[in-house]
Amino acid sequence: MQTNQPARLPEPEHPPEFYLSEIKNIMQVRRRGEAPMALIHTYGCQQNVADSEKIKGLLAQMGFFFTENEEEADFILFNTCAVRGHAENRVFGNVGAVKELKHRHPQLIVAVCGCMMEEQQASEHIRRKFPFVNLVFGTHVLHRFPELFWTALTESRRVFERGDEQEDARIVEGLPVRRDGTSRAWLTVMYGCDNFCSYCIVPYVRGRERSREPEAILQEFRSVVDGGYKDITLLGQNVNSYGKKLAKPVSFAELLRMLDAVDGDYRLRFMTSHPKDATHELIDTMAAGRHISHHLHLPVQSGSNRVLKEMNRRYTREKYLELVEYARKKIPDLSLTTDIIVGFPGETYEEFRETVSLIREVGFTSLFTFIYSPREGTRAALLPDPIPAEEKSKWLQELCAEQEKISAVRCAGEVGKTCRVLVESRNEKNGLLTGRTDGNVVVLFPGEKGMVGNFVNVKITAARNWILSGELIQ
Ligand code: SAH
Ligand code: SF4
Ligand code: F3S
Repeated sequence: MQTNQPARLPEPEHPPEFYLSEIKNIMQVRRRGEAPMALIHTYGCQQNVADSEKIKGLLAQMGFFFTENEEEADFILFNTCAVRGHAENRVFGNVGAVKELKHRHPQLIVAVCGCMMEEQQASEHIRRKFPFVNLVFGTHVLHRFPELFWTALTESRRVFERGDEQEDARIVEGLPVRRDGTSRAWLTVMYGCDNFCSYCIVPYVRGRERSREPEAILQEFRSVVDGGYKDITLLGQNVNSYGKKLAKPVSFAELLRMLDAVDGDYRLRFMTSHPKDATHELIDTMAAGRHISHHLHLPVQSGSNRVLKEMNRRYTREKYLELVEYARKKIPDLSLTTDIIVGFPGETYEEFRETVSLIREVGFTSLFTFIYSPREGTRAALLPDPIPAEEKSKWLQELCAEQEKISAVRCAGEVGKTCRVLVESRNEKNGLLTGRTDGNVVVLFPGEKGMVGNFVNVKITAARNWILSGELIQ
């Protein structure tokens, strides 16, 4: 990946309100007084979902309403993910498909933002191959979206903007957020990543770790609780290194305790925890918490010490298993989930089997599995990678088949238990409610629409492929 950056944008000429109200006026004239409509496509992780909610907050202040129908959209935005080649190709395919729409609706404004747009070659690809795209901006300049949008509108030129080191280092507070869900909310506590796992692009496209001040997080957290959100997830690429670089350092466990002290009817989750930084203090805090969910997403990536070292993960299989053992002792009903990469360059079948043995040993609730995807500019992309793709696919299937057996046993173990479930929706056709347990497992049970958004107790009566069925306990 190239690091040469475009010339820095000069500081904005006007205060943010200026751009918001100017765009509102321009769009009203274009739409002859009708509300303009925006359509946002979000790819990638929850961090991107949270970013899209900020962009929606800004668009709402510009007078936009939101639609899922591209035929009625005045503005279409793709918020992109760079983590794997597959994700990138999907974005290029979907952006390319807008060409025909733009042909029919020449007034349509098309924008692409997010992690991919911090990569010079991806942004160049958009510039050369998709001349109908009006606006491109990376994650580091998201807060300057109104000004960039205004420039594209008023100067009738294409705008391309990425971050640089100065933008990289900043945190902008106070952007409006338009949350999509009614019961689930995402709340970013830190940005960026300093770990440079050898396969991973994230540190290049999200910049260095920087934590929000605990007071700012607490204030937003209170407003989310007051807003009736009941399943709140704190976000960061490595939440356990939260607060280390603050002027007054605060550990992630301390932050959790501070938030958990807020009264209310809610469940508190967090992701992602890097095993090298997950502490016993964190586990103790989870065990003692009033609202903290007994669910830990702890990506292991591989069960082989040699592969872990090559990945630059900075923990061993033994350290990981020790942490899991401690956590299970302190939190017996803990639900553990993980991420695994299959086919890291140079991984042998025997090393892959060490991953299979690790998942058996731990007994995860579920796995997120990925075939290794080389990312230009990362260290692993330079390593010899002799195993053919078809072979890696077979390994992946073998891993998933093993996990299915584990899940079936764990799932069957839930039958007969009573769980506290947050109801998320109701299927009007069959009258079934869908909810989520504390361990983040989906439960289906008959119930009334009025229960959506509330916690209820459900007795689990059957289990199939990690979907539990149950009945309400009054
Ligand atoms: N910060 C988080 C993960 C963010 S990316 C953590 O460290 O756990 C989410 C997952 O994508 C990673 O856990 C990893 O399993 C996978 N991933 C990242 N880069 C990848 C690559 N180049 N190829 C395949 N999978 C990758
Ligand atoms: Fe990527 Fe590793 Fe950072 Fe996670 S911790 S975002 S895998 S570099
Ligand atoms: Fe993808 Fe960016 Fe998240 S690369 S995984 S959207 S941080």
